[in-house]
Amino acid sequence: MFNFNPKPAEPEFTFRLVDHTDICFIHEVRNSAREFLHDNRQFSLQDVIEFVVIKKPQWYIIEWNTETQYANPHGKRVGYFRTAHKSKEDKFLEIGADVHEGFRGRGIAKRAYKQFIDQFFKDGGMALHLKVLAANTRALNLYLNLGFKIREPVEFITRPAGFVRDRKVEASFDMVLWKKDWDERTT
Ligand SMILES: CC(C)(COP(=O)(O)OP(=O)(O)OC[C@H]1O[C@@H](n2cnc3c(N)ncnc32)[C@H](O)[C@@H]1OP(=O)(O)O)[C@@H](O)C(=O)NCCC(=O)NCCS
Repeated sequence: MFNFNPKPAEPEFTFRLVDHTDICFIHEVRNSAREFLHDNRQFSLQDVIEFVVIKKPQWYIIEWNTETQYANPHGKRVGYFRTAHKSKEDKFLEIGADVHEGFRGRGIAKRAYKQFIDQFFKDGGMALHLKVLAANTRALNLYLNLGFKIREPVEFITRPAGFVRDRKVEASFDMVLWKKDWDERTT
């Protein structure tokens, strides 16, 4: 008898809370991304150890479930989501993501965000918020294509002296994605 028993498709990515095994990965990615971030300090390994072990941030490692991990010194890790709850009810989440330099430009952020956002809204989330520097066109395009909208007014930040792009005044956008807008796009 023909026995058709397809396996459900595996999700492309797994998101898991960061732990001490991720310290080297976060240290490398965070410092390689710093010129694109609001907080553009260079972090030492000790800073990252304290951050991960003591502060226990609500960051999620993005694991890419493909065979590529055999050629990836960081195993399945390709990036991380930085999240923080804006409300006690956990319905509003601040989000950001950094992808390892070696994996950028392959659609990983786009697909990982879609999977993450779908899950967030299915679990009862109401809205996602983020901040992006106007000069970060790659990230800005990514968010606009996902359906995030720019909120007014535009904020201006000044880099502290001694850091990347020091003392430069830069525009920063606050963006939001509401559940109803996501549902409209995906149904
Ligand atoms: C921003 C970042 C997370 C995007 O991750 P990524 O995996 O490289 O992005 P993707 O390959 O999924 O590309 C997503 C979208 O970004 C845009 N994009 C990608 N490369 C681009 C480029 N060189 N120039 C302009 N836009 C670009 C496109 O809109 C693309 O969507 P499309 O393929 O439908 O056109 C990643 O580049 C990164 O970590 N950068 C450094 C840190 C950073 O900027 N973090 C975000 C701070 S708000």
